[in-house]
Amino acid sequence: MPALPILFAAESQPDLPLHEQLTRTLRRAILAGHLPLDSRLPATRVLAQDLQISRSTVELAFSRLEAEGYLRRQVGVGSFVAIAAQPKKPRPRKTAAGLSQRGQLIVEAGACRDAALPFAAFTAGQPDPAAFPRELWGKMTQQRWKKDGERLMRYGDSQGLPELREAIAGYLAQSRGVVCDAAQILVLTSSQQALQLIAQLLIDPNDTVWLEEPGYLGARNAMLSAGAKVIPVPVDDEGMNTDISRDLSAPKLIYTTPSHQYPLGVTMSLPRRMALLEQANQHNTWIIEDDYDSEFSYDQRPLPALQGLDQHGRVIYVGTFSKVLFPSLRIAYVVLPPDLMKPFVNARAAFDGHTPQLAQAVTADFMHQGHFAAHIRQMRLLYRSRRDLLLACLQPLSQLIQPVNVNGGLQFAVEIAQHKEATWTAAGLAKGLALRPLSQFYFDDVKKTGWLLGYASLSNTQISAAVNTLKECIR
Ligand SMILES: Cc1ncc(COP(=O)(O)O)c(C=O)c1O
Repeated sequence: MPALPILFAAESQPDLPLHEQLTRTLRRAILAGHLPLDSRLPATRVLAQDLQISRSTVELAFSRLEAEGYLRRQVGVGSFVAIAAQPKKPRPRKTAAGLSQRGQLIVEAGACRDAALPFAAFTAGQPDPAAFPRELWGKMTQQRWKKDGERLMRYGDSQGLPELREAIAGYLAQSRGVVCDAAQILVLTSSQQALQLIAQLLIDPNDTVWLEEPGYLGARNAMLSAGAKVIPVPVDDEGMNTDISRDLSAPKLIYTTPSHQYPLGVTMSLPRRMALLEQANQHNTWIIEDDYDSEFSYDQRPLPALQGLDQHGRVIYVGTFSKVLFPSLRIAYVVLPPDLMKPFVNARAAFDGHTPQLAQAVTADFMHQGHFAAHIRQMRLLYRSRRDLLLACLQPLSQLIQPVNVNGGLQFAVEIAQHKEATWTAAGLAKGLALRPLSQFYFDDVKKTGWLLGYASLSNTQISAAVNTLKECIR
């Protein structure tokens, strides 16, 4: 690779602070593959000397890249590249581990894990386990096991337990305006599995995929792992905006989170929904509608799902129980256009058979007996009160931190000044706050800086304490 001092000098942008310039240089070097996965970076002291800048500047850049997930740092050992370059084109590669090209792409694309501080304050996307009716769940599990244990111990249907598919179809029709029956539902372990399955079955290397920008890393990684050419499509106040001047090459697949855009929280407007469906129809392409947390809409009823508006069978609807029940349950589902069901069930059988039967059965009972709807109602109230408290606590900081699109979900995005994101993120991390930088969700140029702040799993006391800690970090 070109030496770091040369890259740093070549990419100099004097209007930006030095740590920001260095962060960008390193980020680009990593994304371009000049700094491969697991390679060690020079020590901060050495790099500071080489670049003739202060060590604290290098420290800031490294901390920011660590917070964004580009670097992995270990005290006394060093700083290592934690993500792989974005593959421009799948090409033959020799790997030390002897992986196939496909395997290499999957590994390079990486997983979507909140590696740093998974249980820290402000971790996004976490429902509250303390508010879950564990005793009831335990009792229902025992009842099912006693009544039906032998059947549930055998191999099950790869498409999913029929009673769960019935329950999901009923719920989706009633609450989300999804038009489907149980035969169109495939039960999986996670939305992530759904995205991988869709990518592996529908995408050939170099096929174009449109993805929201900023967007969900789990979707981006799944598409990259299938060798897709990802085109980031900007999100504005009405959601994903495909009507932009630059030419977008025709997609094979479009990924979107219309109910509650991840991470910005925008709801896609009805005209945009109609336009997107029309484009999908024109291009003969699939739309993945990832409806991961629309149950938690606090100030207005959520718009019905895109899938229900679709006249041409182009939408693949993805739903999950990770947010609405609990993430380690590992049950999610896709609603598939009828032609896709058989190949998807076969592929699912080929990969891992099926989702554990007992968990599916208990989830079905939980839904059929009305506990699911009651739990959603209770959590909606609880999380809304936590959202309100967090907003109130942040109010005195409104000059520095501006919440955006706070209408629903388990988290909301806040904007902060661009030159503060790295320093404040690093300061927060040092004090145990999981401040997830918005810049991390961009594929191209970063347009908004700030954080995604999770609040749903924090008690009132924890929310106040976390904001007090945040105040110390941004002083
Ligand atoms: C946009 C989006 N989709 C889906 C999920 C849920 O994923 P899973 O079902 O794999 O737990 C998340 C979780 O954070 C998410 O943010």
